[in-house]
Amino acid sequence: MELILLGPPGAGKGTQSKLLETRYGVAQISTGDMLRAEVKSGSAIGLEAKSIMDSGGLVSDALIIRMIGERIARPDCANGFILDGFPRTVPQAEALDELLHTTKVDLDGVIELKVDEAVLVARISGRFTCAKCGAGYHDLFKRPRHEGVCDVCGSGDFSRRPDDKAETVHARLEAYNAQTAPILPYYRAKGRLHSVDGMADMDAVEAQIEAVLRKIGVPAP
Ligand code: AP5
Ligand code: MG
Repeated sequence: MELILLGPPGAGKGTQSKLLETRYGVAQISTGDMLRAEVKSGSAIGLEAKSIMDSGGLVSDALIIRMIGERIARPDCANGFILDGFPRTVPQAEALDELLHTTKVDLDGVIELKVDEAVLVARISGRFTCAKCGAGYHDLFKRPRHEGVCDVCGSGDFSRRPDDKAETVHARLEAYNAQTAPILPYYRAKGRLHSVDGMADMDAVEAQIEAVLRKIGVPAP
């Protein structure tokens, strides 16, 4: 399965692509997670990306396209992949088409998670993750089963993203509307775009995505 999950910040791309990764045995590729790992390691890419990410803007297409080309070539993508947060501009979508053409891989589809802006802000401002294993939580919508203890790895160490501050969230939403939303007509024109109601609860969103996957011929695991 080769799938793109598209949607604004906080739409649930990370939440849903992690569920699909586990259920379908394909690699989740989050360009945001990759960039955060670069920032954490203090690499040259991380140094270039950090101030842009902290301001809510988009990192350069050239850097992202190179990063994705290398990532898709890794062995864990042989079974397929879910792209989370890429492509994010029309030039990135065009570069992906070229990359898939060269590697003779067919994109199954693009699933857009549609969520109202007020809900996005509430979701992002309540988000936190396990600092050890990366499991995602929310102050209101998804608390750990035992207060202060990660459900997945048992760690008590949690963190919040620096770009989840209110002023940066607005800049990220603007970047989505100005630079990423134009990808929607790009994929609609190719007959690849499917939209789901991302306002529903997490299980219901997952069920809608699986219904789309069945419709486009991806067999249930
Ligand atoms: P990135 O990490 O991709 O962030 P984003 O697109 O802003 O999206 P988020 O990760 O904030 O949201 P999400 O859709 O994954 O939602 P989540 O599942 O966490 O990018 C960060 C930055 O990196 C960018 O700003 C840019 O600078 C740079 N970058 C990355 N890729 C790039 C690219 N291709 N080109 C250029 N620059 C790039 O859910 C959010 C919260 O809501 C969670 O707490 C979750 O528990 C909760 N939630 C999820 N679903 C539901 C639901 N159905 N109901 C209730 N709560 C829910
Ligand atoms: Mg994410």
